[in-house]
Amino acid sequence: VSVPEFPDPSIPLAAEVELEAPATTILLWDLPVRIVHWSFVLLLPALWWSWQAGLMEVHRLLGYAALALMLFRLYWGFAGSDTARFASFVKGPRAVARYLAGRAGEPVLGHNPLGALSVVALLFLLALQIGLGLVAQDVDGLFAGPLAHWVDYETSELARAWHGTIFYVLLGFVGLHLAAILFYLLVRRTNLVGPMVTGRKRVPSCVAPSEPAPWRRALMGAAFSLAVTVWIAAGAPFPSVD
Ligand code: HEM
Repeated sequence: VSVPEFPDPSIPLAAEVELEAPATTILLWDLPVRIVHWSFVLLLPALWWSWQAGLMEVHRLLGYAALALMLFRLYWGFAGSDTARFASFVKGPRAVARYLAGRAGEPVLGHNPLGALSVVALLFLLALQIGLGLVAQDVDGLFAGPLAHWVDYETSELARAWHGTIFYVLLGFVGLHLAAILFYLLVRRTNLVGPMVTGRKRVPSCVAPSEPAPWRRALMGAAFSLAVTVWIAAGAPFPSVD
């Protein structure tokens, strides 16, 4: 008597069903997530170029755009649509290990547990890069971030050095991110770029669509991020009591 192997290799994993039986189109990434994503794609080379060309006023303005986008993305990670929320995709090491072992269980809508790690790393490094830029100043003190007055000269100088280093670490993670996208395209035959452009994806009809967040909430977040950015750009003044 032959004992069937468990799990039976002839039965596809749920994650594979997703690839084999697309049946309906859902909204995977909402517009705010896509705008933030593609803006960062454009901003990274532009920020590098502006520094390289010595256009530090341009670097400052683009840096503020990055700051506003980052503030909005953090807000959207709590207030946004299902697939934009940190709680929906940031998973513990056990979920990552299960995913790597191919026992993920349900089809993944949005970031898979491993992809989520790279998203968190990218957002963290970007936030760090922006924060360091805000307190950094150049060697001759001619150009300084708006919060450089919060720290002494040595700390500001150190922030500039780290601002230079973190940029290359960030580039390394961008490289990993691109390699993963290529792997999914060539090996798994899954196009991850298309949904990040259109927002839409074909999935089995059994998959519950993600709940899109209301526009009102996105506008509130945009207004909040802009206001905080303008305040920081002005040197984060506190009203004086006297
Ligand atoms: C994602 C956002 C940013 C990226 C990718 C970025 C990128 C860079 C790069 C690659 C450099 C050259 C570092 C070096 O090797 O010395 C630089 C320098 C600098 N950045 Fe940024 N930056 C960002 C945001 C900001 C922000 C928000 C500010 C402040 C407004 C800022 C202020 C500066 C300053 C003061 C320098 C030093 C310039 C010099 O030494 O001549 N950066 N940035």
